Amino acid sequence: RVIRLSEYAPYPFRVDSLALAFDLDPAKTRVQATLRLTRTGTAADLELDGEDMTLVSVALDGETLPADRYTAGDGKLVVRGVPDAFTLDVVTEFAPAENTKLEGLYVSDGMFCTQCEAQGFRRITYFPDRPDVMTRYTVTLRADKAAYPVLLSNGNRIEQGDLDGGRHFAVWEDPFNKPSYLFALVAGDLERVQDGFRTRSGRDIELNIWVEHGNGPRCTFAMESLKKAMKWDEDVYGLEYDLDLFNVVAVSAFNMGAMENKSLNIFNAKAILADPDTATDAEYEYVESVVAHEYFHNWTGNRITCRDWFQLSLKEGLTVFRDQQFSADMRSAPVERINQVRSLRGRQFPEDGGPLAHPVRPDSYIEINNFYTATVYDKGAEVIRMMHRLLGAEAYRKGIDLYVERHDGTAATCDDFAAAMADAGGRDLSQFKLWYSQAGTPQLRVTETYEDGVYALTIRQHTDPTPGQPDKRPLHIPLEVGFLDRTGQPLPVRLEGEDTAADSRVLELREAEQTFRFTGLAEKPVPSLNRGFTAPVRLVETPHTDADRALLMAHDPDTFARWEAGQQYAVDLLLKMVAARAAGSNEGPDTAAFVEALGSSAADESLDAAFRAQVLTLPSDDFLAEQMAVIDIDGIHAAREALRRDIARAHGALFRRLRDTHRAAAGPFAPTAEGAGHRALANAALSYLGLDAANAKLALEQYRAADNMTDAMAALRVLNDLDVPERAEALDHFHDRFKGDPLVLDKWFSLQAMSQRPDTLARLKDLMGHPAFSMRNPNRVRALIGVFANANPVRFHAEDGAGYAFLVDRVLELNSLNPQIGARLLQPMGRWRRMEAARKALMTRELDRVLATPDLAPDVYEIASKARAE
Ligand code: ARG
Ligand code: ZN
Repeated sequence: RVIRLSEYAPYPFRVDSLALAFDLDPAKTRVQATLRLTRTGTAADLELDGEDMTLVSVALDGETLPADRYTAGDGKLVVRGVPDAFTLDVVTEFAPAENTKLEGLYVSDGMFCTQCEAQGFRRITYFPDRPDVMTRYTVTLRADKAAYPVLLSNGNRIEQGDLDGGRHFAVWEDPFNKPSYLFALVAGDLERVQDGFRTRSGRDIELNIWVEHGNGPRCTFAMESLKKAMKWDEDVYGLEYDLDLFNVVAVSAFNMGAMENKSLNIFNAKAILADPDTATDAEYEYVESVVAHEYFHNWTGNRITCRDWFQLSLKEGLTVFRDQQFSADMRSAPVERINQVRSLRGRQFPEDGGPLAHPVRPDSYIEINNFYTATVYDKGAEVIRMMHRLLGAEAYRKGIDLYVERHDGTAATCDDFAAAMADAGGRDLSQFKLWYSQAGTPQLRVTETYEDGVYALTIRQHTDPTPGQPDKRPLHIPLEVGFLDRTGQPLPVRLEGEDTAADSRVLELREAEQTFRFTGLAEKPVPSLNRGFTAPVRLVETPHTDADRALLMAHDPDTFARWEAGQQYAVDLLLKMVAARAAGSNEGPDTAAFVEALGSSAADESLDAAFRAQVLTLPSDDFLAEQMAVIDIDGIHAAREALRRDIARAHGALFRRLRDTHRAAAGPFAPTAEGAGHRALANAALSYLGLDAANAKLALEQYRAADNMTDAMAALRVLNDLDVPERAEALDHFHDRFKGDPLVLDKWFSLQAMSQRPDTLARLKDLMGHPAFSMRNPNRVRALIGVFANANPVRFHAEDGAGYAFLVDRVLELNSLNPQIGARLLQPMGRWRRMEAARKALMTRELDRVLATPDLAPDVYEIASKARAE
């Protein structure tokens, strides 16, 4: 069944309050829900959502209803002919221990926990499970005291005590109205890590992180991150925490990263636990940003929520933008921007260019879980970033204040947000709002002329058709540009007819083709385009020569643009290398000038180490594939490896020096941005050195000597693709050291799933039988199967189709076990359109196999059918 934005209608009842009482038992949990309802529309009958439960009883104003007054089935409970105001008592039962979908109430490692976004609450009780129905919750939890000493829900605990039979209870009350997707409960035997935060208005907040016993010491970093996020949101957004208690719980089986339930955030353990022995620098950074993201949702998501799920980006795009700003302030801003752009290009651009393309605000869905996407999250964040850029930081902040003033305590829309920004900034955003409704990545073609001292840039924009959107309109695009002279000095940017010149200007594109004329230039400048990545577009044509790119790499005052020039330079070369190889020619392009320029940047001690590590990382296979009409999987991989070898050969001495000096500069491990930068550069150098099997010893030494997981993993990554005895030695050692820690063992699974070795798929099949592997734990599934399908193009796309068949077998297993995860895993199969005939046939055959399977979950059906459509 397809749900459409155009069919939105308000719910015809108000829920005045909700009382929930849980008798928790893994095999049979009983829930009594008491709803007070008032009719606000014209509906005669009351319709509530509910799935996968046993309905025990329904009572209206205290009278148990006879079976002919209601029907339950097909996801709904319909109570016929209800009065204008009444109380409804509904009792349901289900088995949390058998809930493998991990939506609603389930058991993870012996503890009860919940995940209700988007539609998990309907698996707990019958309720209008939609975000625009908000009410006050009072929650009573009853459970065995020995097995579940800790009982948590949203808001404040107002009562607790013992019951007969070794059971106990707690009552929680949340003073804020909230939609059902923000409900949460946790019951378990957990260790508490406690701290506090004093808000700017002087209130003391109790902060708790709850984890499995023994994991307390691994929470220090998450706790520090939480306090930093709380302070940052006060300083930058003027937003303060609104309750006296904030709880965070880490669970091991979780479909996503984390969830912002009101005052009871629930996290995938992976997004909380970090210590030097088990977490890499990237994982520390991930913890910091997820903790901040979920905390920031308290205002952008909870206090102001979404009217319907089409508005998901209202909270997610905005909250991702906020966590990106936070990370930029905590760490190196340009390096953060580089990582964001890498991930946008690696995940969102392919989505926008493929069969699953959808707008930031989708207009239809079959299963909403399939729309927690890179488009809604990351392109959504880019849309907020562009508004920030168009308005300026000050007017943007006024826009946020206005948005909060207008919509606090309500369920709002993306239009509401844009209206607050437009009003605060005094800007017309009507054309800009197309970014919300039009899918696809805009392509820009830029040409230049220089005559009589006037430099002109002509910019054409075009967006390819996407499913359901054959014709695209021109977007309102902020594009920052600057100019350099031939020696790399900045030149002024002055638009014809204006008096003021600046070092940089944001051009506003609004038409399919537009020319901007600049005066006051004594020579033709080298343009620096889309500085800071002001717009999420593809520059498919620019006037740049290789020499221009080398100049920008060395001199652009915008750090991001320097990195970008190197990436574009590399893309051009690599695509030429792929073409030459495909034509059977031995004559590839000359890589010497690029290799030289790369070496100069890497050796430049005036630059940040983290930035230099980024420069040394070539564009990914996926990003290169995006630029090809027909994707040449093996060609791309071979070209990238060949260029890496050229670089390694030219700069062996430099890389040895960089590795030694930056390893020393990093010093004893501390999870700081600065230390991480030194480790990143040393390890980027090691990755080039490691192309030579003779350096396997060096890598093994690093593995053995490492006092932190970053250096250990960097060494393992080098060994992982080599055919040397050191590989097995290090991997076995890693396994033995961490076999008791599934979260760390995931890295060991992933390494093997990523390996370029020809026996990788056979090895994966063996690993599925490893005692620590389980199809029921999403982290394990992602580590082994997700990594294989998304990060090992050469082996996944093996010519015999065995990689595709393996993936689809797993998807079909997950179809009944955990369809949300199954649907995610299936996504890479949508790429068949751009493959050559043989792989096209193999991939479509596997998609047909999915579609021919009986009892497909809506999640899997939606992805399979869209991915398969011609
Ligand atoms: N709101 C959560 C976050 O972004 C993610 C919830 C994902 N839920 C889902 N059903 N896919 O922080
Ligand atoms: Zn979020």
